[in-house]
Amino acid sequence: MSGPLVPGIRPYRPDDRDAVAEICLRTAVAGGDATGVYSDDALMPEVYALPYVAFAPDLAFVAVDDAGRVGGYVLGVADTAAFIDWYARAWAPGFRERHPSPGPPTAHRPEYGEAQLIADGGDPERMRIAELARYPAHLHIDLLPHLQGLGLGRRLIDTFRAALAERSVPALHLGLDPANAGARAFYERLGFHELPSSRPDAPLLGIAAR
Ligand SMILES: CC(C)(COP(=O)(O)OP(=O)(O)OC[C@H]1O[C@@H](n2cnc3c(N)ncnc32)[C@H](O)[C@@H]1OP(=O)(O)O)[C@@H](O)C(=O)NCCC(=O)NCCS
Repeated sequence: MSGPLVPGIRPYRPDDRDAVAEICLRTAVAGGDATGVYSDDALMPEVYALPYVAFAPDLAFVAVDDAGRVGGYVLGVADTAAFIDWYARAWAPGFRERHPSPGPPTAHRPEYGEAQLIADGGDPERMRIAELARYPAHLHIDLLPHLQGLGLGRRLIDTFRAALAERSVPALHLGLDPANAGARAFYERLGFHELPSSRPDAPLLGIAAR
């Protein structure tokens, strides 16, 4: 007989895709819920989550709660330049077709507006940072509120870094919303440092894979 489930981490599976999209949406505005913030709830996941599990499902890991439900993830790519090329060819055209222009404004008026989100979704060159040669990998990490503060974020990052080290990838970078002070504190606690091209309005952090 197996004992009670405890929160844990496992590799991503294709049937986790909807859960990953939902978690992305529910953590997308400075770490908080973006449901109803944009005219289409599919937008955020289509830019910041689903391309990753399509391109590099082997570098996606999920956090599972004590009921066995997926409640968090780390998603990323080992080679951002290769991802940019793939995104331009295989993802951006469909995205632009599905989202040709911003929908009607919602009551939320987010800081990161829908016009910018749609422009970003069709423009993978936004991911080409100056430090790409030394920090070729990048990631996104999100946990639903009930799984935050339990050490799972640290474990997800450790898992991702170990997967990069296995592939001989030297280091990774990530960008974050300047309004997300909690995430900033988390990354600093884990030893991330600011990269030279980081700006106050677009912070950019990096860390070695090992
Ligand atoms: C940010 C996030 C990934 C952190 O994961 P987490 O599981 O909550 O963090 P952990 O419990 O693993 O914390 C790891 C360390 O960071 C510290 N830390 C985490 N959140 C912190 C915060 N808000 N302020 C200060 N320290 C924090 C912890 O104290 C812990 O330190 P310790 O290991 O030395 O005790 C998670 O809270 C989250 O998904 N938030 C919402 C979505 C989001 O903001 N994603 C990031 C977008 S860039």
